[in-house]
Formats: sequence, structure tokens, C-alpha cells
Amino acid sequence: MHILKIVVTGGAGFIGSNLCEYFLQQGYQVVCLDNLATGHMENMTEFIEHPAFTFIKGDIRDLETCRKAVEGADYVLHEAALGSVPRSIEDPLTTNEVNIGGFLNMLVAARDAGVKRFIYAASSSTYGDSKELPKVEEHIGRPLSPYAITKYVNELYADVFSKTYGMECVGLRYFNVFGKRQDPNGAYAAVIPLWVKQLLRGESPVINGDGSFSRDFTYIDNVIEANEKAMITPTELIRQRAKFYNLELSDDHAINLVFNVAFGGNTTLKALYKTLRDNLAFHDSRIATLEPVYGPERAGDIPHSQASILKAQRILEYAPKYDAAEGFRMACEWYWKNLK
Ligand SMILES: NC(=O)c1ccc[n+]([C@@H]2O[C@H](COP(=O)([O-])OP(=O)(O)OC[C@H]3O[C@@H](n4cnc5c(N)ncnc54)[C@H](O)[C@@H]3O)[C@@H](O)[C@H]2O)c1
Repeated sequence: MHILKIVVTGGAGFIGSNLCEYFLQQGYQVVCLDNLATGHMENMTEFIEHPAFTFIKGDIRDLETCRKAVEGADYVLHEAALGSVPRSIEDPLTTNEVNIGGFLNMLVAARDAGVKRFIYAASSSTYGDSKELPKVEEHIGRPLSPYAITKYVNELYADVFSKTYGMECVGLRYFNVFGKRQDPNGAYAAVIPLWVKQLLRGESPVINGDGSFSRDFTYIDNVIEANEKAMITPTELIRQRAKFYNLELSDDHAINLVFNVAFGGNTTLKALYKTLRDNLAFHDSRIATLEPVYGPERAGDIPHSQASILKAQRILEYAPKYDAAEGFRMACEWYWKNLK
């Protein structure tokens, strides 16, 4: 029997390692390609010895490495990229090389290897300066950072590859993902692990702006579900559902779709701070008295971000199980056990 093989790029990172772990549990063969730029070997501790797992330490900027990784693969889940808006503002060149050059290498390698579907991490940053809420896939604004440009260019390339070479592509626009293994360290740490780390150390986190900015924080398990459904939903079913919901899909081309991946809620930074503090104070009551410090707003930040998830619900039957509050609780539990 052929065991389906998935290539997860960026599998030593936060989202990628969670995907590797899950798909190994589901009985797939998993190949991880990662250069450990922001990922860590420790993220793979729980499955590195799994007989169906292969780790390739390599860079997606090298086409031959990408080709080696996708040999005989059925699906690609492309997560490798340099994340963070501030990083891209400080170093747009490297962000561009990895996020666009590396993406194109993976597309070419996947095309030549004849993979069934190429699923990639897109981003809510593609909504840019659009003020419309909730965010609907078809209405985007102008990018606010080099990072946002790279993620949008990924979508454009996927579109052209599906039209030109008949490749099936699905872009998943993640909205502020959080959960176990998200890195609390480094200059570009995401807000949740950063604040949790600071609270656990008895330090006061900084809220950029007045705390009224809001986000559609998305628990990692919802992201895993979206990837699985994007991978296994048959093309014919996608076409039927798209027709039913009057979503335009060309009959002549392979499918190319982009979906918001979120819970569909919104949490202000102020509320996030309070929730994280309360969850951690449950373990250590000294944390309950820590007050945040307010700092200046950050360049490139979108004031509010909330997704419509209707398209993924309709076409992929995406049904996220964890709201933000439940996710915050589980993430705090994990950090309490693993970071202290
Ligand atoms: N975390 C979020 O909230 C979020 C939101 C939107 C989109 N995304 C996207 O999801 C993907 C995963 O993000 P994450 O949060 O897990 O970040 P992460 O930094 O934890 O993971 C990225 C992984 O890619 C690897 N990588 C970077 N450059 C590479 C290269 N040149 N060659 C090979 N591997 C390389 C890193 O070592 C790391 O393991 C990224 O594409 C990111 O842009 C994340």
C-alpha cells in the first residue's frame, strides 16, 4: 500500500512542527525541510525518531534542495518563510529572497515532482490598509510592509502556476496563530509567547499603542484542521461546493483558492493581556498584580483584523473547534509546563 507522503517546509518552526506531529499521528510519511533560521531541533523532539519522519536540513533558496525534499511527495505544506513585519522592515532583502525566491523554488520543485496539491501559508497581512471588516478573501487593500508584499506575491505565483501548469494550489491566510512551541525568544517574537515569557519572569509587558488594536487570534489546532481539509478535500467536491455557493472557478484551470484561516472573533490587545495574566496567575498568584506598560504604536501594524471564515466553512467544511479563550488557556498551560 502506498503511504501518502507530505513535505512540510518550515517543519522545525512553530506551525510546521505542529503539522509534522499531527500528520505523523495520522499515518502519513512526513519530510521536513528547514534550515533552522528561526526553527529549532527541540521543536521536533517528540517525533524526530518516528520511523515515517525524515528531516532535511536545507534552505528553500536552493532549488536542488527543494527538488530533493519533494521527490515522490503527494502533497506539499509550505510553511517555511521569514515571518514578522518588523523583521521585513529591517531586512527587506532577505525576507524577499526567502519568502518569494524560496517560494518560487518550492513551486517549481513541486510542479516537476507532480505533487497532487500545493498548500501554502499565506497571511492576513495581505489585507493591508483595507478597513473593511470582517476581512473577505476577495477584497484586499495595499500592503503595509515588505512581509505583506511577499505573502501577496506568493498568491500571485500560485495563481499563475495553476493557470499555466495546471498545478492545484491552496493558500491559507493565517490570522495571528498561537499555541504550543511558538517561539518566545528573539527580537521578533510574536505577542503571545513574548508576553507569557515576560509575565512568567515577573516583568511587565509593553503594549504597543493604547491596547485598542484587535486581532483574530487563532489557535494552532484550527490551523491544523484547515491544512488537513485543504489537503484532502477532493477537487470535484470543491468544484461542486463552489458552484453551489456561486464562487467563480474556471473550468479550464486547475483549482487555485485562497482561504482565511481564523476563528472569526476579535480580541483587543488589552483584553489579551488580561486573559494571559489571569491564566498564568492561576498557577502563580504573584502574576495577578503585574500591570502592562504602554508604548508607541509599531510601523506597519493594522489596527483591526478579523476574518470572515465563511468561504473555508463552505468549500472546505472548515469548522474550527477552539475559540481564542480556550486556546489562550491551553497555550498558557503549555508555556507554564515548558517555559518556567
Ligand atoms: N504565526 C502566525 O501567526 C502566522 C500568521 C500568518 C502567516 N504565517 C506564516 O506561517 C508560516 C509558519 O510561521 P511560523 O509562525 O510557524 O514561523 P516560524 O518562524 O516558527 O517557522 C518558520 C520556519 O521556516 C524555517 N525557514 C525560514 N527560512 C528558511 C529557509 N530559507 N529555508 C528553509 N527553512 C526556512 C524556519 O527555520 C522556521 O522553522 C510562515 O510562512 C509564516 O509567514 C504565520
